[in-house]
Amino acid sequence: MTEKPDPFTVPFGSILCDWMTTASAEEGPFVYRGSPEPFGDLSISPAAHVLHYGSAIFEGLKAHRQVDGSVAIFRLDSHVARMVTSASRLRLPEIDPSLLHQMIVDAVAANADEVPDPPGSLYIRPTLIGTGADIGAAAHPASSALLFVVNSPVGDYFKGGIRPLTLQLETSTPRTVPQFGMVKCGANYAMALGPTLDAMAGNEAIDQVLFATEGDITETGASNFFLADDERIVTRHLDESFLHGVTRDSVIQLARHLGYEVEERSIDPEELVDWSERGEAFLSGTAAGVAPVGTVIYSGKTITIGTGQPGPNTLRLRQALTDAQTGAAPDTFVWRTPVGSQ
Ligand code: COI
Repeated sequence: MTEKPDPFTVPFGSILCDWMTTASAEEGPFVYRGSPEPFGDLSISPAAHVLHYGSAIFEGLKAHRQVDGSVAIFRLDSHVARMVTSASRLRLPEIDPSLLHQMIVDAVAANADEVPDPPGSLYIRPTLIGTGADIGAAAHPASSALLFVVNSPVGDYFKGGIRPLTLQLETSTPRTVPQFGMVKCGANYAMALGPTLDAMAGNEAIDQVLFATEGDITETGASNFFLADDERIVTRHLDESFLHGVTRDSVIQLARHLGYEVEERSIDPEELVDWSERGEAFLSGTAAGVAPVGTVIYSGKTITIGTGQPGPNTLRLRQALTDAQTGAAPDTFVWRTPVGSQ
């Protein structure tokens, strides 16, 4: 293993592990050579479909160092299933779930020495791009595609560790377009970038923009959104307008297990204002984990959520998620896939 910096001292995702896995599809199913290869640059045509027509999807999941020192991937099958759906939505070649499962396990096994101890983890980024040299293929799927899995040892997604985040509520610019809402494609992140940078330029304290198109709070650029109090958690019901977070689902299942009521429904900004007087809010995501929200800027007003500090219910759910990921709690929901090292 080459010497790498401590992931907590550099931006999230900026360290890449030594090994990756790749498979390509040329007018047929993906072919995987069956073993990892050294991490390195890709060679694709300047006419590649992805560079012109945005045929790019990805996943984000994590492997965690367990309390017994072994390594396990969290919710592998759910992420594989979501990527299969994303590929089909962008008309990219069909992914065989068992092939992607194997490519992820093989990459993590090869990089197992690079999995940091908690609270760090190994971020796993499976990616699929259209590689066919098809400049005219705007109305055609890519004729060939490349699927690859790279890994990154990571610390906190939000600089500064566990701290109350500041969100700006955006009610006019949509998060994305209806046909891409639940697809984990690069284009969705590109769409959130402009509004996020504009918000940050106006107020450097802002961490994320919370999209509430026409008063309907859905998600931020990189996470789902929850309200919480001592009895319940509330989050937007699923539809095709936003990403169906696997961490969102984990939080819901853990919360029910802990005795909270779960409400999946619309949340409007005025409810958030009311809630701020007595409750908590947090973000959920693979990268973000469970991240407390302390302040929301809405229509130029600064709204403090609860005390403005991470609330007890947020911290309880965060701990429950961490325990499920790291093997500190029993694997009640069968979420952990153990990985041997190579
Ligand atoms: C994830 O949580 O995996 C994401 O996709 C967020 C990403 C912007 C780092």
